[in-house]
Amino acid sequence: MHEIPSVPVVITDIIDESPSIKTFVFSRRFPAEPGHFCMVWIPGTDEIPMAFSAQNAITVQKVGEATEALFALSRGDKIGIKGPLGNGFSPTGRTLAVAGGVGAAPLRLLATLGMADDFILGARTAGELLFSKELADVTNLKCATDDGTHGHHGFVTELLRAADPASYDTICVCGPEVMMKAVLAILIDAGCPEKGQFSLHRYMKCGVGICGSCCIDHSGLRVCRDGPVFTGDVIINSEFGSYTRDASGRRKPI
Ligand SMILES: Cc1cc2nc3c(=O)[nH]c(=O)nc-3n(C[C@H](O)[C@H](O)[C@H](O)COP(=O)(O)OP(=O)(O)OC[C@H]3O[C@@H](n4cnc5c(N)ncnc54)[C@H](O)[C@@H]3O)c2cc1C
Ligand code: FES
Repeated sequence: MHEIPSVPVVITDIIDESPSIKTFVFSRRFPAEPGHFCMVWIPGTDEIPMAFSAQNAITVQKVGEATEALFALSRGDKIGIKGPLGNGFSPTGRTLAVAGGVGAAPLRLLATLGMADDFILGARTAGELLFSKELADVTNLKCATDDGTHGHHGFVTELLRAADPASYDTICVCGPEVMMKAVLAILIDAGCPEKGQFSLHRYMKCGVGICGSCCIDHSGLRVCRDGPVFTGDVIINSEFGSYTRDASGRRKPI
């Protein structure tokens, strides 16, 4: 197998998107398509998967040791980028994007490349709605917040139902798995699960198809090599939305 090298890049800018989310812009552009990811090497800490939010940027939520180490870096520091990796979104025709929280990262690249007509963006509160100004410039944007501080008071799924999902050719989705599972249920009700393209952000070790840590029951599909984007009809009867796995491979209910 051809090994993709980790390329050293310099962090040229760090943008505070919310109290727990930052965008790291780096010195080199990669030929990433929407939904492609990279393995980010953080010196002395770990290598972790991140979607490209632009061809020269990642947008990161601080959740644990590696992301905390990334947050401690400054402009001028170096990280390693291995990618682009995986199979991304492949929208055709009229396209809707549905994002929750930091799931807006890969869908931002989709929108800025002109591949989304309409966009439904959700977050807990107004200050956590990612990229809303930029997305409103390039798509017809509707927002939902759990606490009603901006847009629809409620969930993205309520806006999706109102948008008549069957009228779209492609629906690209990324967010917490529980949200994506609810989106898939709506597409099943509408008779079109195959129109949904879901980006799964599962635990990964190698990122290149070797270790098996990202396999999905019962198909054995690997999120890193066969995904991270899967159509709804492929994951409909899988563990998707029910449980995930930790670093030791143990099941964790969602
Ligand atoms: C293809 C892909 C693209 C991703 N893109 C992004 C992105 O654009 N922005 C972003 O912020 N994160 C993204 N992630 C998730 C990111 O890789 C994890 O949040 C990160 O690896 C956590 O590392 P940590 O050491 O900080 O946390 P850990 O200490 O490893 O974990 C802290 C907590 O987060 C959970 N966790 C760890 N990894 C994941 C994961 N992959 N998915 C869900 N929960 C996890 C753990 O179970 C634990 O509860 C992506 C993951 C994949 C597979
Ligand atoms: S992370 Fe190793 S096979 Fe997918």
